[in-house]
Amino acid sequence: MPAASFHFPKGFLWGCATAAHQVEGNNTNNNWYRWEQEGRTKHKSGLACDWWGGRWKEDFDRAAEAGQNAHRLSVEWSRIQPAPDRWDEEALERYRAMLRGLHERGMTPLVSLHHFTDPLWVYEMGDPSTGSGRGWENEAVVPLFEKFVRKTVEALKEYCTLWCTINEPNVYALSGYLSGDFPPGKQDNKLAMRVLANLLRGHAAAYRAIHEIQPEARVGYALHYRPQAPAHPASPLDRLMRNIRYSGINLGFPSGISTGVMRTPLGNFRVPEAKGTQDYLGLNYYSVDTVAFDLRRPRELFSRAYYPKEADLSPTGFIANIPEGLFQSIRWAQHTYPNLPILITENGVEDPDDRLRPRYLAQHIHQMWRAVNFNWPVKGYFHWSLVDNFEWERGWTQRFGLWGLDPETQQRIRRPSVDLYAAICRENGLTSEMVQQYCPEVFEKMFPD
Ligand code: FCB
Repeated sequence: MPAASFHFPKGFLWGCATAAHQVEGNNTNNNWYRWEQEGRTKHKSGLACDWWGGRWKEDFDRAAEAGQNAHRLSVEWSRIQPAPDRWDEEALERYRAMLRGLHERGMTPLVSLHHFTDPLWVYEMGDPSTGSGRGWENEAVVPLFEKFVRKTVEALKEYCTLWCTINEPNVYALSGYLSGDFPPGKQDNKLAMRVLANLLRGHAAAYRAIHEIQPEARVGYALHYRPQAPAHPASPLDRLMRNIRYSGINLGFPSGISTGVMRTPLGNFRVPEAKGTQDYLGLNYYSVDTVAFDLRRPRELFSRAYYPKEADLSPTGFIANIPEGLFQSIRWAQHTYPNLPILITENGVEDPDDRLRPRYLAQHIHQMWRAVNFNWPVKGYFHWSLVDNFEWERGWTQRFGLWGLDPETQQRIRRPSVDLYAAICRENGLTSEMVQQYCPEVFEKMFPD
């Protein structure tokens, strides 16, 4: 069979995504640090990847040498604004240095302004006895977030025009207020929706503020988009459960941005100022859930989500390798927002031994290429992640890096996927030779005779 190659449009962004708390280390003034001290995570973040100690330099060198031309990172609100009436100019200067560091290495920065963490003073504000709620439960957080965004964008605008207001607002709300895995560990579905509505208000305020400061900015957010498949498509109950979960997980923010009314299975929230507030859609895609009706699970609204038995599972069972789901996600995005640019802001798999990652990477990039060939406007791909980092409540049990990390010694370990991804970035595409070299087990599937 002749060699095949799947190329991407000129100027396509290829990079990795990271988040402040997961890589910086010694982030002691936010809700996640508190959560770690309370023993709610498998491990503590500690030094993480020691980016705050300066190791971002060597990691950006690695990324640049591996052909990456972009990087998505987040800034930590609690460092920039350690108290309501205090700005830390030195912290802003460090972020400026990081962004300069990316430019010096020929990489385009994408900056997220909120990636799961809140300063302790935000986490603790409000007085639940008066019904005002804490953190994002309380609408009073919206102008505070806007103020932080204004200050940060003013300081960083010289080096960045591509902004992500909030990372995975749906995961923030559902994990913090429904499953209870994230702080504050509540299980209250109505509250989860109120938090989501406030995040949408925060996003809208940030969108407008950024454009006021920097008219040429491109502003979006990162949606964790999770396709859901009914266990038995012929079963009306499975389909019903699938639809409820699908809209509950995925559609709150998108409906709010389309119409100004955030639709959820638990009711609608009017957020008129959110209408039209995105210049691109950020898609974080990892996997697809199978959903079945299950009478034994009243707390999960009588449904069960799982991966099929035959799934190509990651070592901790966290992710099933279902590359077609990325194609479906992009198709959904461009149907929902015709012509709106799409960035894959996260995609990856936890795999310390790098057995699954090469095929996961190649197969997902293949599906993204299929989407690009429908002229759907996918403009870039950010792999999660560059180096193993602190995976929230799962601590260090999951290794998502192209490079491995020993958090004790800070030693980086090059995994074979580094070279596969480098070849893809340099080629601006994927070739059959790469698949043959790095993941021959899927060669036949990807290039049938
Ligand atoms: C996403 C998060 C990111 C990382 C990956 C594995 O939900 O945005 O911080 O934890 O999952």
